[in-house]
Amino acid sequence: GIIILDFGSQYNQLIGRRIREMEVYSEIVPFNTPLSEILEKKPKGIILSGGPSSVNAENAHLVEKELYEQDIPVLGICYGMQLTAHILGGKVAKGDKGEYGKAHLDIVKENELLKGVCQNSIVWMSHFDEVAELPVGFELNARSGVIASISNPEKMIYGVQFHPEVSHSEEGGKMIENFVFGICKADRNWKLTNYIEKTVAEIKEKVGDQKVILGLSGGVDSSVAAVLIHKAIGDQLNCIFVDTGLLRKNEGKKVMENYGKHFKMNIKMVDASERFLSKLSGIGDPEEKRKIIGNEFVYVFDEESKQIEGAKFLAQGTIYPDVIESQSVKGPSAVIKSHHNVGGLPEEMDFQLLEPLRELFKDEVRKVGEELGIPHELVYRHPFPGPGLGIRVLGEVDAEKVRILQEADDIFIEELYKNDLYEKVSQAFVVLLPVKSVGVMGDERTYEYTAVVRSANTIDFMTATWSRLPYEFLDTVSSRIINEVRGINRVAYDISSKPPATIEWE
Ligand code: XMP
Repeated sequence: GIIILDFGSQYNQLIGRRIREMEVYSEIVPFNTPLSEILEKKPKGIILSGGPSSVNAENAHLVEKELYEQDIPVLGICYGMQLTAHILGGKVAKGDKGEYGKAHLDIVKENELLKGVCQNSIVWMSHFDEVAELPVGFELNARSGVIASISNPEKMIYGVQFHPEVSHSEEGGKMIENFVFGICKADRNWKLTNYIEKTVAEIKEKVGDQKVILGLSGGVDSSVAAVLIHKAIGDQLNCIFVDTGLLRKNEGKKVMENYGKHFKMNIKMVDASERFLSKLSGIGDPEEKRKIIGNEFVYVFDEESKQIEGAKFLAQGTIYPDVIESQSVKGPSAVIKSHHNVGGLPEEMDFQLLEPLRELFKDEVRKVGEELGIPHELVYRHPFPGPGLGIRVLGEVDAEKVRILQEADDIFIEELYKNDLYEKVSQAFVVLLPVKSVGVMGDERTYEYTAVVRSANTIDFMTATWSRLPYEFLDTVSSRIINEVRGINRVAYDISSKPPATIEWE
């Protein structure tokens, strides 16, 4: 496959996904992975990613020069191109102002990488430094104001200053394809149906006749993991579904119907809502609420898993981005998101881990899910935070507020589906504010809570914009919520982007 060295650009996972979409295996490894380890993977090509630092900085992130002498094609993207120029004897300078956004590509000399790419196509730039002098043996292939693309075709070394992996780069896909197939001659052998077969066989082999426990949340990752494992070992899989009382409306029922009845999985549903609510009583601080919910979850899960005698494995829906994030050597502009999944492995539990989705990107997990027969709607659900409605009822949580929020949220989501908008936004939900305001209904004065409708569009959940939902649609949602949900008399729409706001309110 193709190995991507990670220098910390926020677009790195996109490079990996683009290549996998071409049915070629790609793997993202930290930039300082020893060359010997990289070579053990027998890569057909190596991509050096973008990154936030400067090659001229004191502790610059570098690679061994020998990387360029292996007869393996190398493509440097943004920082990766600057790094290549720097290491091979060229010069990288601080530009006057940097460049951010769209630029036009002026091809001065076509090569394998730019084959078939139109003159003047739009490319996406995001950099401060620029290549000022080419290394010996290199030629200039394209400009965009700055040096946009260089190569040493004989040594199969290529560089682009822009980001071909982002969709704003009109012909970026073609360039990556040129690299992967034209230059690296990679094979198309990454197929998800093969992945399913291979993984099912591996699970069977690893688990033997032992029991496996899995915490089913109803979310995409744990569900796909469960169905995949179930396909391999049937009733040896024991799912535990904890109803925290902080889930979406009818969530428990839906999970039992879909996975219990339809897939005939062995699921124990634990109604722990009273425990959670009583632990939360009187607590208003968001972080404290998170901690309480997280601890309680582990506690309940631990108790339940002890009931399943002789279980040797704990299965988790860990996916590739989780793995990349935990291995990544992040530069100064490190990712802000602290990962906060409820239901982490209780430390004293003595299980072997089973993580059948560890190698897959989210879109691949979804494809595997559909391939396994999970309905489309379930596979394309929005993410839902572990602490659930516990952090969407702002401030102190009680059963009544949770009920009000569930009703309002359900209406919003139902309308999104009805109007074919659900899959056009990345995450949508309702938040209940502890603020009451005056209204009038019929001839009566009302004094009730305020609900906020929130919908975000994002690729990676690290930055996001609010969804430009049609006014007419928002009008319908607002009137339905106010008319149908007792306890709410006012609806607001959240028009904050992230940053500086976050997607959730707490
Ligand atoms: P924020 O609010 O940080 O959310 O912009 C980014 C993504 O993370 C989810 N999120 C959580 N997920 N436990 C989780 O499992 C949490 O405590 C938590 N807080 C936020 C959020 O729903 C969004 O998808």
